[in-house]
Amino acid sequence: MNIDRIMQELTLEEKASLCSGADFWHTKAVERLDIPGIMVSDGPHGLRKNKDIAHDPNEAIEAVCFPTACATACSFDRTLLESIGKAMGDQCRHENVSVVLGPGCNIKRSPLCGRNFEYFSEDPYLAGQLAAAHIKGVQSRGVGTSLKHFACNNQEHRRMSVSAEVSERALREIYLVPFETAVKDSKPWTVMCSYNRINGVYSSENKMLLTDILRGEWGFGGLVMSDWGAVNDRVEGVKAGLDLEMPSSWGKNDKKIVEAVRAGELSEKDLDKCVRRVLELVEKAAANAAPDTVWDKEKDHVLARRLAGECMVLLKNDEDILPLDGGEKIAFIGKFAEQPRYQGGGSSHINSFKVTSALDAAKEYADVSYAPGFPLDKDETDEKLLSEALQAAAAADKAVIFAGLPDSFEFEGFDRRSMKIPSCQLKLIEEVCKVNPNTVVVLHNGAPIELPFVAQVKGILECYLAGQAAGGAVCDILFGKVNPSGKLAETFPKKLSDNPSYLNFPGEGDRVNYAEDLFVGYRYYDRKQLEPLFPFGYGLSYTTFEYSDLRLSHSEIDDDRILTAEVTVTNTGKRAGKEVVQLYVSDKESSVIRPVKELKGFEKVELKPGESKKVVFRLDRRAFAYYEPAISDWFVEYGEFEILIGASSADIRLRDSVYVNSAARLPVKFTLNSTFGDIKACPDSMKILGGVLKHSRSVEEAADPHRDGEDDEMLVGIGDETPLRSIISFIDDPQVTSQRMQAALDELNELIASQQ
Ligand code: BGC
Repeated sequence: MNIDRIMQELTLEEKASLCSGADFWHTKAVERLDIPGIMVSDGPHGLRKNKDIAHDPNEAIEAVCFPTACATACSFDRTLLESIGKAMGDQCRHENVSVVLGPGCNIKRSPLCGRNFEYFSEDPYLAGQLAAAHIKGVQSRGVGTSLKHFACNNQEHRRMSVSAEVSERALREIYLVPFETAVKDSKPWTVMCSYNRINGVYSSENKMLLTDILRGEWGFGGLVMSDWGAVNDRVEGVKAGLDLEMPSSWGKNDKKIVEAVRAGELSEKDLDKCVRRVLELVEKAAANAAPDTVWDKEKDHVLARRLAGECMVLLKNDEDILPLDGGEKIAFIGKFAEQPRYQGGGSSHINSFKVTSALDAAKEYADVSYAPGFPLDKDETDEKLLSEALQAAAAADKAVIFAGLPDSFEFEGFDRRSMKIPSCQLKLIEEVCKVNPNTVVVLHNGAPIELPFVAQVKGILECYLAGQAAGGAVCDILFGKVNPSGKLAETFPKKLSDNPSYLNFPGEGDRVNYAEDLFVGYRYYDRKQLEPLFPFGYGLSYTTFEYSDLRLSHSEIDDDRILTAEVTVTNTGKRAGKEVVQLYVSDKESSVIRPVKELKGFEKVELKPGESKKVVFRLDRRAFAYYEPAISDWFVEYGEFEILIGASSADIRLRDSVYVNSAARLPVKFTLNSTFGDIKACPDSMKILGGVLKHSRSVEEAADPHRDGEDDEMLVGIGDETPLRSIISFIDDPQVTSQRMQAALDELNELIASQQ
């Protein structure tokens, strides 16, 4: 395709037409100029390719459903995400799909977001790393991705109009980081803007987001498409850098673009930029098409089972109730044993070509009895089902209850109302525990739930929504073939009201105030010293690990150098297993409000019994930085930082400190409204201001309380909080004037500027 030539030959109408879809899933073709249309499909944990658009744009071909993002995040394993991506890439090629719509990397701000199952984590570093790995996998096969939903789509309530009111620091340090990481590390072919507004501006017409940050700062070179129906004002969208509107708006918005260009309200240059990016995407897709790629669904099903086993999180295992022994009498209870909830509902819903339930897979290990226990279609205790379940539980050595959230509780398009699972399931668990003390609960949900039975049951296995082979993977773990190695990618609070977003979710009217600011997830629980039910990064194994020999490459480092941290991990148990080693950075001397610690590295290591391995982390400048609005950039403050190595965010095993030298200083400009304390803290200030204040005893005392042996802390305290303008008026001295003080401040400000 000769894009330059095509750009010259396209009419204005054709250009406008290329900026929106042909239908639900295709871009437009321009036959006259041999420009083909390409197909895009959801995504992201399986292929939801439309079967027949004329019949139903939402009916999908049969495909393979891999574990969803809420599950894969718990693997803390970049290679796992990459392998799902590669498999997806091959499937897309086989099906002639050029771009798969995902991954979604929005932050799990509240456990209630109806779409949490499609998102990775409450932590931006983890979410970014995993999204980047997924993209790498898909795109290594010559298929594009659409990183979504850019940005701040953290709830479903009024998702198409709500404004996320978020501070600049929280936006940069929490909500944009996963996108930034994925864009910089993996160069997704496309990015999908979100439905909502951010601080009042629709993402689909947000120039700061789509152009200044995404392209200008992060160097994104691909295409931006709208979420399905996210366009508010198409002309503003073109100006802001929204290249492609999806799906089709049936010519209505194309017409508006043409009119705006003709009326001189939209520059054709801006339109050309969008058109060129559409053409570049089409060209890339055409160059990579390979419909003869083989798609072996059975092979992918086996992969889905293996990967699901890497994601599940063992939350409790008292008295080593797990793994089960095939020789024991085991009862499987709960409808999810037969019909697992393995994916969420909505646009990511995959038409699985087959599903393995735990009941099917158990046959490979034991002869288990089964009772459905509760109905799935309503939250009502069915006495007959309950009594059958109790009989089965009483007759067994161990009871395994398969519980969780049904689709009616958790689905794209609405938020959950509470953190509870259906009450009929809670009753079942309570009653089963009474007849069988050896009870294990297996959970299927996309985000944290309340676990009122935590003390009653001996084991809890959190499966999340683990894909179509979930049942196989559950049995592999329950019966000990696979040693669990997942760790929570989000905090499980004891109750919903402990969650930091609680007071501001889902907001009022069409605004939601992100008042918890930076303190999302463990950042909040840490800072508030609030003990969660299960902390971020937590998960058990059938073996044990010991951490030793933390070595930092430097005890003091300039902020432009790489700090290396090495740690040895040893499997001290009797089974082979995998451990997720986590590195957190803590700023010990920050002058701004920061989280107690933040995840800045993780590695998953596989160890045989008795084996030790060294894990190496490399930390660059960004690992120490916070976003400083005063300079609109990341900033590293000099001072002491601690490097923490943990098995979870609440289980720090080793720590050491490093002093970071940073030459950078924030611009300071003192005014008459600066407090005396702030000015005093600046070297040389008293030399300069002293000239003006020299007759003032109270100011001299405030500057040096130990003068004359006095020690008046109160005076210092009050003086420090007082602005200069007030000090000037308090002093009964005609020499101490605002004019003289301003002149001294100018001199001080100049000196500071010359030192920066
Ligand atoms: C969802 C997107 C999805 C698109 C196409 C939208 O409603 O928000 O995530 O990719 O539909 O199905």
